[in-house]
Amino acid sequence: MAILVTGGAGFIGSHTCVELLNAGYDVVVMDNYSNSSAESLRRVQELTGKAVRLYEKDIRDADAYAEIFSQNTIDSIIHFAGLKAVGESIQMPVEYYDNNIGGTVELLKAMQKYGCKRIVFSSSATVYGVNNPVPFREDMPTGGTTNPYGTTKYFIERILMDTQAAHPDWNVILLRYFNPIGAHKSGRIGEDPQGIPNNLMPYISQVAVGKLPILHIYGNDYDTPDGTGVRDYIHVVDLAIGHVRAVEKVMQGTGVQIYNLGTGHGISVLELVHAFEKASGVRVPYQIDSRRSGDIPVCYADASKAARELGWKAERGVAEMCEDTWRWQSQNPKGYA
Ligand code: NAD
Ligand code: WQD
Repeated sequence: MAILVTGGAGFIGSHTCVELLNAGYDVVVMDNYSNSSAESLRRVQELTGKAVRLYEKDIRDADAYAEIFSQNTIDSIIHFAGLKAVGESIQMPVEYYDNNIGGTVELLKAMQKYGCKRIVFSSSATVYGVNNPVPFREDMPTGGTTNPYGTTKYFIERILMDTQAAHPDWNVILLRYFNPIGAHKSGRIGEDPQGIPNNLMPYISQVAVGKLPILHIYGNDYDTPDGTGVRDYIHVVDLAIGHVRAVEKVMQGTGVQIYNLGTGHGISVLELVHAFEKASGVRVPYQIDSRRSGDIPVCYADASKAARELGWKAERGVAEMCEDTWRWQSQNPKGYA
């Protein structure tokens, strides 16, 4: 019995592979390396002392699945593969819909064809859109997304719900992540964005390591305690462990379940910058710029459903998130290159 992890070479996927292997699962990865490389999985195997079965394949490639499903007994799927850059999705909506939605549809066709009935999907807090009050709860209305990337997550959730309704013996879990940061304690795997980072934490850490000159803070005039945006940052290892709990859950019963994976607490951009400076001992110069279009002022989870039903709770605090990010960034200033 194996878990098929699409996008398993990426940031969250590689950390999840470590936790799955440590929990005793067989892991099969399908990744086209469009935003990653085989090096992350080489290190995952080095860290765990266990082998991952690797397929360099695109999830949109209908022919790829025959090989994977004939060579492995796939019990469940964790579906990470997708493009995730918000700004790029506004420039290239067709490519995002093709990759994320087209790819998911091919994956679902293969599940139907080969009789695999369990899937855990990487969704995002972005599906809560701009109209809900915080903290975000799983039963709040979704949609009202502000960019094509977010819309792919909203549509894929709907596609998975429709598919489960047509196949009542399937079990679907939608995990809505908040803001994953941090890295594995070893410093061997972490986030390795290509080009200039879009997200706050990799930007901070690249300024700290000297790759970028200065952090741009997008607005200090929000209605928040210090005026900067507030987010629910979650350690990627906590997130990865959440996937192990979700895999245990997806093996039981049928239906659709939705869980927020966040800490339940928000911190501001400036608070994160200061926590990072404290953890690293390095000053992070910044300047205040105007707001970034599409940003909401405050976003954090109600994380109580995952605690109740998955027995999962984020345990690592912001200081640890910063220390672990810094260990990864300072030991691998060029990422996996
Ligand atoms: P990532 O880019 O590091 O990982 C995604 C992986 O999918 C990469 O290894 C990439 O090569 C692969 N991939 C992309 N398109 C593919 C395709 N067509 N076929 C095969 N492989 C393909 O991103 P991540 O941060 O690890 O995110 C993983 C998932 O979680 C994504 O679906 C993302 O949208 C979602 N998510 C991420 C965040 C975040 O802030 N990082 C937040 C919420 C949700
Ligand atoms: C966090 C805060 C920015 C960069 C995005 C996606 C979301 C999800 C997670 C995948 C905000 C501020 C940022 C910078 C800054 N991804 N910021 N300077 O926007 O909450 O969420 O990633 O699903 O869908 O939208 O994360 O890290 O980009 O921003 O001041 O250089 O940091 O304005 O307040 P965000 P982020």
